Formats: sequence, C-alpha cells, structure tokens
Amino acid sequence: MRISPKMKKALNDQVALEGLASSSYLAMASWCEVTGYKGAADYFYAQSDEERTHMIKIIHFLNDIGATATIPAIKAPTATYKSLEGLVKTALKNEQTVTKAIHKMVEIAQKEKDHSTYAFLEWFVNEQVQEETKFETILQKFDLIGRDKIAVNEIDKILAAEAASPEEPMA
Ligand code: FEO
Repeated sequence: MRISPKMKKALNDQVALEGLASSSYLAMASWCEVTGYKGAADYFYAQSDEERTHMIKIIHFLNDIGATATIPAIKAPTATYKSLEGLVKTALKNEQTVTKAIHKMVEIAQKEKDHSTYAFLEWFVNEQVQEETKFETILQKFDLIGRDKIAVNEIDKILAAEAASPEEPMA
C-alpha cells in the first residue's frame, strides 16, 4: 500500500504533535506534583502515557504501510502555570489543536481517496471528541465548585478518583 508524500508528512507531523502533547502533559503532571495537587498529578501522568500510545499508534501505522515513521525532536514544554484551572485551559487548547490536525488529515485522506488512512483516522476522530469533553468537564468544575483553596482541593480529589478509574464517567 502506498500513501502520498503529503499524507505521509501529515502523519509524521501528527507523530510529533502527539509526542509534544505527551511531553506537555508530563510537564503539567510534574508542576501539579510539586504544587501539591496530587490527584491532578496522577491524572496528567496518565494523560501523558495516553498521548504516548497515540504517538506509537501512528508510528506503527506508518511503518506497517511501508511509509517509515520519523521520530521527531520534541521541544521543551511550558513548565509552570499560574493555577490548576489555567493548566487545564492549556490542556483543552492542546486538544483543540490536535483535533484540527486530525480533521485536516481526514480531509487529505478523503481528497486522495486514501481509504486505509481514512479508516485508521476514524479512531482518532472519536478519541478527540472524548478528549475535549474530558477537559471541558474539568473546567466546568471550577464554575460549579469554585476557585478557592477548598474548592480546588476538591477538584484535585475528583481528578485523583478519575486517574484511579479512567473508564468511569466523571461525577
Ligand atoms: Fe492524542 Fe489528546 O490527543
């Protein structure tokens, strides 16, 4: 099976973007850990792992179809945040960027009648809906519970529970 150079480049760019997301969530987890948000730290360490699996999924796909994945250099992510809410806002923005990139790839695949890549990307399209919803739901918590120390501590506990059983829907 062959894919076009354009599709190959887009998929390799996505490897880099997922790698950057993994690295970015790792930095967020670390910041949460040193700031005292233990639940959020667990949550973002897990999220970082998840992004790494996304990156590897695309690497496997490229290699399986004989296109050869390029392992990218990953630039250092933002290391400090003003607040947990600000951090989650950045996470949502990351996901919106990833969603756009995925949709762009779907459009390329459609245009090129590249059915294999199109079918492969379907999982990512659905995954992005979940990813954005996840962070939007956390952000809603700040409106619902509050932004003072006690409220943020409560949100941290919710994230701890979420990290412990990620398949459960968030309360
Ligand atoms: Fe792999 Fe959260 O995008």
